[in-house]
Amino acid sequence: MNNDPTKPGPAPLRSAQWFDNPGNPGMTALYLERYLNYGLTREELQSGKPIIGIAQTGSDLSPCNRHHIELAKRVADGIRANGGVPIEFPVHPIQETGKRPTAALDRNLSYLGLVEVLFGYPLDGVVLTTGCDKTTPAMIMGAATVDIPAIVLSGGPMLDGWFEGELVGSGTVVWEARRRLAAGEIAYDKFIDMVAGSAPSVGHCNTMGTASSMNAMAEALGMSLPGCAAIPGPYRERAQIAYETGKRIVDMVREDLRPSHILTREAFENAIVCASAIGASTNCPPHVIAIARHIGVELDIADWDTIGYDIPLLVNMMPAGKYLGERFHRAGGLPAVIGELMRHGKIRESALTVSGRTMGEENRGKRSIDPEMITDYETPLHEHAGFAVLTGNLFHSAIMKTSVISPEFRDRFMRKPGDHDAFEGRAIVFEGPEDYHHRINDADLKIDADCILVIRNCGPIGYPGSAEVVNMLPPDALVKQGINQLPCIGDGRQSGTSGSPSILNASPESAVGGGLLLLRTGDRIRVDLKTRTANILIDEAELTRRREAMELPELLNQTPWQEIHRRFTGQLETGAVMEHAVGYQRIAERFGVPRDNH
Ligand code: FES
Ligand code: MG
Repeated sequence: MNNDPTKPGPAPLRSAQWFDNPGNPGMTALYLERYLNYGLTREELQSGKPIIGIAQTGSDLSPCNRHHIELAKRVADGIRANGGVPIEFPVHPIQETGKRPTAALDRNLSYLGLVEVLFGYPLDGVVLTTGCDKTTPAMIMGAATVDIPAIVLSGGPMLDGWFEGELVGSGTVVWEARRRLAAGEIAYDKFIDMVAGSAPSVGHCNTMGTASSMNAMAEALGMSLPGCAAIPGPYRERAQIAYETGKRIVDMVREDLRPSHILTREAFENAIVCASAIGASTNCPPHVIAIARHIGVELDIADWDTIGYDIPLLVNMMPAGKYLGERFHRAGGLPAVIGELMRHGKIRESALTVSGRTMGEENRGKRSIDPEMITDYETPLHEHAGFAVLTGNLFHSAIMKTSVISPEFRDRFMRKPGDHDAFEGRAIVFEGPEDYHHRINDADLKIDADCILVIRNCGPIGYPGSAEVVNMLPPDALVKQGINQLPCIGDGRQSGTSGSPSILNASPESAVGGGLLLLRTGDRIRVDLKTRTANILIDEAELTRRREAMELPELLNQTPWQEIHRRFTGQLETGAVMEHAVGYQRIAERFGVPRDNH
């Protein structure tokens, strides 16, 4: 490796400014000595070998990513085999199901931590271990800001879950089991066993929830090796691709191949198209927009509708379909989906990937070997599988995953004569999940099939962090009559594992004065998918009166981070990023390395 910038050859290594800086022997000695103390040698640190970070998102607190502790050994083997030196470091945990009030609060915190590590330590490149929902966007956002060579290694989904001979998928089973418990069909112990059946091994959620979706997004963006996203966590191929990923990042450093070369507008368009085809989580728009904003690519919430809406659903995976991650991988995984989309001209083939080859070169000719699992484009599971982006006096934008609208929902709410794509209802407004649980079975509310359930104060600022609470079950009495869904609207999110066609991510949220705050129980709401509108049906004069009388809810910060988060974070429609952080781009190129520490 050439560390003299005056001579031709590959760019000098960042790490040499710590470990091999002849102009400053005092600091070199100081930086060097502590990294020798566990057995690294001067030869490893001073002979031009790229130093590769392994950003470790797994821990006992993060079971979805925990097997990365094992996989990191194969990553390190690959790094060494290609002449690099691996240095593993911990990342602030983000555990979707364990973290209160919501893991979404910690995505930006983890991002911030990664930016400081990548910029302030002697690292030339990084392997981003991903898995559980927010770990994937947090890691890519951080690498985007610093812009040193970076590659994603997904942990892969758990094996398929089974309970009493039936497939049970992560999260999705919870909604079904809750329904059965509410309807009195099963007892508490069986309820727990049924849910636990969905988690049979190491790995992240095995449905097309946010984890599988976001790892697929990483691959569609070109940030992982092809085929990486879908390999189940326990499969041998998972450890093998960990090794290949380790090998590849060393060459990426030698080639100076950085996130800014990969994360182009074309890459984001590919991600949107793939999101529709796989039936991705409603959490993808905010996370993918967040990544775009940190790399400096224009991506609007409306792009999800214009680019993605007409793309058909090709992947038959829960919650939009029937199967789980193992079968998706065996059918060909994301490369088979991309190959099929390419045959219909839907992929920007020239987008570069971490392999150094383009999307087109990597995926041309890839096919599904299981048409029941990954269909072809002509016979999809659903015609228009993208997100509908709605607007109106309730919010500037909100999204609806129309591919999960069930025939039952369509028949009950959307098949009124001459009014196919619209529905109206009486709003029942809840101030948060506690209020919902407290009052949903209150007979005085007279909730019937003509109602729309609304939940507010659940956005990035209100909750704080934005909670996955919008998909609300109807009252027990309705469930017992077989009405399992009512239309739902909210400024929170919903779990990617939910098959509910809720209208969510409403921005701006009520906590900052969004339209949902004007709503009162009993108001009528009309949603029209054809015109992409959602409105409170009251006159403008009354709306103005309410706007003038509006009082923002009081927000209680319980930790210092909650306060910082609330001060800097924006709305879901623009990625819920820390707005000031977007101003920091390509910082390794702009600033080189930070000042010496002594
Ligand atoms: Fe971690 Fe789903 S809860 S991946
Ligand atoms: Mg979730």
